[in-house]
Amino acid sequence: MRIERLEEFKLSGTVRAKIAALLKEGFGVYPEGRTFYKQLPDFRYLAWDGEDLLGHLAAEFRIINVGGTLLPIFGVADLCVTPSRQQERIATQMLRELEALARSSNVEFILLTGSEPNVYKGMGFDRLERSCRWLLMNNLSTLGVIRRSVNNIMIKCLGDRTWPEGEIDFLGHIF
Ligand SMILES: CC(C)(COP(=O)(O)OP(=O)(O)OC[C@H]1O[C@@H](n2cnc3c(N)ncnc32)[C@H](O)[C@@H]1OP(=O)(O)O)[C@@H](O)C(=O)NCCC(=O)NCCS
Repeated sequence: MRIERLEEFKLSGTVRAKIAALLKEGFGVYPEGRTFYKQLPDFRYLAWDGEDLLGHLAAEFRIINVGGTLLPIFGVADLCVTPSRQQERIATQMLRELEALARSSNVEFILLTGSEPNVYKGMGFDRLERSCRWLLMNNLSTLGVIRRSVNNIMIKCLGDRTWPEGEIDFLGHIF
């Protein structure tokens, strides 16, 4: 198995089609033929076995505002592994690659919202419940700004700074 990092604008049509198929297979309700839910990411990690796409992680480099403190983060979306190859630590390896990239780039935090918090616990992610504000989008349309308490925010602090108190303003859509 090999894991590669690809910048979004460099994806070929063939790779896009494989990503769309994997996301549909992994999430079921994913929009047909699409490689993103809200917006394009900045880059992706793809796990390959030969020409077969086994795993996918989308990442965005973003500034967010937490209680008045600006934090540069990597936001993670659409972490997914093909069902026949789950439980082989493929997701863990893609997250580790992202973490290594963050550390070498002085990005101090990784953030995602996870429906399966146990997936991230073993990797040292903490779960937070916070008031959050984000840009609400649905079906490729912007609907407005939403403010709501979110109880499945998973964060990993990589530097010396701890996560600040206060509301999380995503300054964009939520991951
Ligand atoms: C969630 C998913 C990406 C995990 O991929 P994976 O490669 O099988 O995960 P790993 O083998 O790296 O396992 C990582 C940890 O998550 C746990 N885990 C894996 N799948 C899990 C699941 N569905 N529910 C709960 N825990 C799970 C593993 O036991 C492991 O825990 P440990 O570190 O304490 O031993 C994969 O099951 C998937 O694609 N699911 C469908 C899409 C999805 O729901 N993605 C978003 C999840 S928030």
